[in-house]
Formats: sequence, C-alpha cells, structure tokens
Amino acid sequence: MSSYETMPFHLETERLILRPWAESDAAEFSALLSERGDETYTVERGRKGIVELLTATESTGIALLPVQRREEGDFIGYCGLIIGRSTLEEPEIAYELFRHAHGRGYATEAARAVLGAAAATGRNRLWSTVASWNTPSLRVLEKLGFERDRVSMEGTKEVVWLTRSLP
Ligand SMILES: CC(C)(COP(=O)(O)OP(=O)(O)OC[C@H]1O[C@@H](n2cnc3c(N)ncnc32)[C@H](O)[C@@H]1OP(=O)(O)O)[C@@H](O)C(=O)NCCC(=O)NCCS
Repeated sequence: MSSYETMPFHLETERLILRPWAESDAAEFSALLSERGDETYTVERGRKGIVELLTATESTGIALLPVQRREEGDFIGYCGLIIGRSTLEEPEIAYELFRHAHGRGYATEAARAVLGAAAATGRNRLWSTVASWNTPSLRVLEKLGFERDRVSMEGTKEVVWLTRSLP
C-alpha cells in the first residue's frame, strides 16, 4: 500500500456520475472493449476484467471507474487512474467511451473530476501515454492542462508522454 490516501470512488459532475463497478456492468464493458475492433470480448471476459480491476484497486487505492450519464442513467465508458506505463506515485489518467458518446465533452468532463480525485489522494503529478495518431485523446489532455514531455517508440508505434502537476 502507498502512503497516499485512497482515491474517492464516487464522483459527480454536471452531466456525469463516476461510481464503483458492479457485476451488472459486464455486458456493457465487454461491448465497449469490442468497439476497439481488434477482437470480440465476451460478457464473461468483461466480468473477469471487472474482477481484475477491483482486485488491482484493493492493492493500489486508485481506480478506473464506470462513467454513467446522470439523466439517461446509461453506462458510456470508463475514466480513472491506472499505473499503466508509469508508477503508483505518479499514475496515468485513462479513459474510453462508446463511440456514440464521443464529441460532447464527456471525456474532458469525466477526466477533470478524476484530476480532482487524484489531487485528493495527495499526489503531485499525473501522466498519460497516448498513441501519436490519437488526436481526440491528445486534445482532451491539452484541454486539461497536460503538457508533452517526450515521445517513445514501441516497435513502430509512437507513444506520446504527457504530464500535469496537481495543485
Ligand atoms: C479519447 C476519447 C475518450 C475522447 O472522448 P470525447 O468525449 O469525445 O472527448 P471530448 O469531447 O471531451 O474532447 C474531444 C476533443 O477532440 C476533438 N477532436 C475529436 N476528433 C478530432 C479530430 N479528428 N481532429 C482534431 N480534433 C478532434 C474534439 O473536437 C474535442 O475538442 P474541442 O472540445 O476542442 O472541440 C474518445 O475518443 C475515445 O473513447 N476514444 C477511444 C479510446 C481512446 O482512445 N482512449 C484514450 C487512450 S489514450
């Protein structure tokens, strides 16, 4: 366990709620991952993924959280903190939303709440690593005040490292 406070697992914004995973999210979670188009994720795989996320959170105190629209009450994706390519002290912010929910500022709104949650744990810095082709994600990070630090190569894939200090 780290010396940081556990991240708050219930966050609310003007249009969104971020809350802990439920087993009943498995179907939507697998549908979201399947939208990536590289493979089909079964509901069983979604369920296993949720258990893995919950187990990771028990040992790290940070989490990816389902994002739900307040009015519609529907699951539209996830946003939160992961170790990813970084460290528990300076974790990464991550997000992924259903295509039908893109382009309405939801990722920026959810990620802004996660920045607040990260600051509440006592952390001083966050990272994000994004494929260089991913303009929408880079734009979200820019809107949140992240700055480019460096680019690394993973085979032929260019990964942009961005960072933001927390108040
Ligand atoms: C990245 C992602 C979460 C963004 O979600 P979103 O809710 O659409 O994001 P927002 O609406 O908050 O902001 C997107 C910004 O990118 C801009 N944008 C979108 N597509 C763009 C393009 N092709 N070229 C330039 N800008 C683009 C939007 O105009 C918006 O910026 P603006 O507010 O200045 O107009 C979403 O695209 C997604 O889930 N992608 C697949 C998963 C993924 O890539 N996750 C990130 C991995 S690092």
